[in-house]
Amino acid sequence: MTLQVLNSPFNEEQVKQLNVLLPTLNDYQKIWLTGYLSIAPAAGVAVLEEPAASIEEEVKSIATEPQSATILYGSQTGNAQALAEKLGAKLAEAGVDVTVASMSAFKTNQLKKLTNLFIVTSTHGEGTPPDNAIQFHEFLYGKRAPKLEHLQFSVLALGDSSYEFFCKTGADFDEQLEKLGAQRIAPRVDCDLDYDALAAQWFEDVKKAIVANDAQAALSQVNTATKEVGGSEYSKKNPFYAEVLEKINLNGRGSNKVTYHLELSLEGSGLTYAPGDSIGILPENDEQLVGILIEALGFQQTEVVTVEQQSLTLAEALQKKLEITVLSKPLLQKIQNYTVNPDFAALVQDNYKWKDYVYGRDLLDVVQNYGPFSWNAQQFVELLRKIPARLYSIASSQAANEDEAHLTIGKVSYETDGRGRQGVCSGQIAERIEIGQKLPIYIHSNPNFKLPQDDATAIIMIGAGTGIAPFRSFIEERAAREAEGKSWLFFGDQHFVTDYLYQTDWQGWIKDGALTNLTTAFSRDGDQKIYVQHRLQEHAKELYEWIEQGAIIYVCGDEKAMAADVDKMIHAIVAEQGGKSAEQAAEYVSSLKQQQRYQRDVY
Ligand SMILES: Cc1cc2nc3c(=O)[nH]c(=O)nc-3n(C[C@H](O)[C@H](O)[C@H](O)COP(=O)(O)O)c2cc1C
Repeated sequence: MTLQVLNSPFNEEQVKQLNVLLPTLNDYQKIWLTGYLSIAPAAGVAVLEEPAASIEEEVKSIATEPQSATILYGSQTGNAQALAEKLGAKLAEAGVDVTVASMSAFKTNQLKKLTNLFIVTSTHGEGTPPDNAIQFHEFLYGKRAPKLEHLQFSVLALGDSSYEFFCKTGADFDEQLEKLGAQRIAPRVDCDLDYDALAAQWFEDVKKAIVANDAQAALSQVNTATKEVGGSEYSKKNPFYAEVLEKINLNGRGSNKVTYHLELSLEGSGLTYAPGDSIGILPENDEQLVGILIEALGFQQTEVVTVEQQSLTLAEALQKKLEITVLSKPLLQKIQNYTVNPDFAALVQDNYKWKDYVYGRDLLDVVQNYGPFSWNAQQFVELLRKIPARLYSIASSQAANEDEAHLTIGKVSYETDGRGRQGVCSGQIAERIEIGQKLPIYIHSNPNFKLPQDDATAIIMIGAGTGIAPFRSFIEERAAREAEGKSWLFFGDQHFVTDYLYQTDWQGWIKDGALTNLTTAFSRDGDQKIYVQHRLQEHAKELYEWIEQGAIIYVCGDEKAMAADVDKMIHAIVAEQGGKSAEQAAEYVSSLKQQQRYQRDVY
């Protein structure tokens, strides 16, 4: 088809242009153009100035093309992962083409191809990334990190404001992505332990930033079915009141420790769990401590205050709702607004002094040491955060105990400035909860600490003290499933006679074959202190063989007192037994983590 000046209303130049354009149009474009011209005002003809290809693109994008987004999470105990999945479901509902992945599963060479990247990450250790975020974090800070000018991003950071490096990993990603040229399309949000409301707001901000209008949602055909874990009506917001069926001190007389084995009834709750999951307990503060604090503050127990739009007495608010036992720099800074005491100002400003002061002290110390303050009861409660739930690894298998969950809870107690103190939850369990009473609980699933699907896979479990808890669940489950895979437990504590937690269970499982190898380290029984990492070293050759044959390593317990040394030893064993340099061993271990063959639940 060639247009002639003579039989058209166009001048020569226009005909020339049209003759260049018309032969390039496909049928779809011609039909679209006919429709467009029939309804467009005269000025709308300017659309002809657009390159032909973009017309199709524009029409298609209006009609069908969804925005795409990648959500990467860094998560140790599952919080960030659950939020990332929630955001994924929300964006999918809004018509966005979403991919949700762990940072460790993400191929960094894909980074340049992304248009929208959302990061949800917690912080662990002393301001370090969770295990599955370490490599991606290193990559973005490394020489091979690409320029990312085409990328839009936003970060949701999870943390705990009582840590010095609050939400540091999230802040790192936020800063580094900006340095690499990416555009921040919603500001970073830093969440404390009570993160639900802030996270929900961030979801909305992110959605608004990439979903221009609801038409996209209407046009897209996305499967928005999302999995609800557990299938129970009970959750952190709506806890189940579980009856305490059994409470036994596992430590013998003369032990330095008190560790309770607690059996909870889940009957009628519909709650389900898998080995590796935890139970969250919503604890209460010690009534006696609350009374002393209110007296020191000069308030009345019965004064009425408002907390989260609810009116309650000051005593109730401080016992049931608000944290009074942990000090942090942000809290001290807020308290400073209510005093002109120069000593308090000096404390807050001196980095060394405040860190030293907050360790092992609580609000009662602040009031006694630096009071009086100019606040009233309402202003005082508004400074405090909600009492965080406490997570405990489940020590039983539901395959063996359908309506029960067992926990292993070590009582925390210490003395500072001559006053005895207790852990909020462990103190409540040890001192103020009896068999027959009920505790508000919920299930916290941890996808990063899980038995292998294949029952033939060998497992190596390393734990000290209460770190033994999930391994009791693992072995009870494997016994119930009659799994044929080998299993090796390394357990450490202080004394054989008083601290061998669940000794008869392990011995029973060794006897019937559910547990293949059992190695213990009782640190204070001999002249020299022996810890689990020393036992690992003694068995280095066999351990390396197990790992090379595909075994999965699990570590549970105190990070500083145990997991860090175990980690060093695993590196040393890989280097020595595998004939590798330190760098090669680090790569080997990091690839084990990447394949979820080195999983840690540390605290
Ligand atoms: C051993 C340990 C160390 C932690 N260190 C920090 C820290 O340095 N800074 C911080 O903001 N939060 C810290 N936290 C708090 C976690 O970031 C917070 O509990 C978060 O909700 C966990 O999310 P996740 O389940 O996705 O890992 C730490 C928690 C644990 C158990």
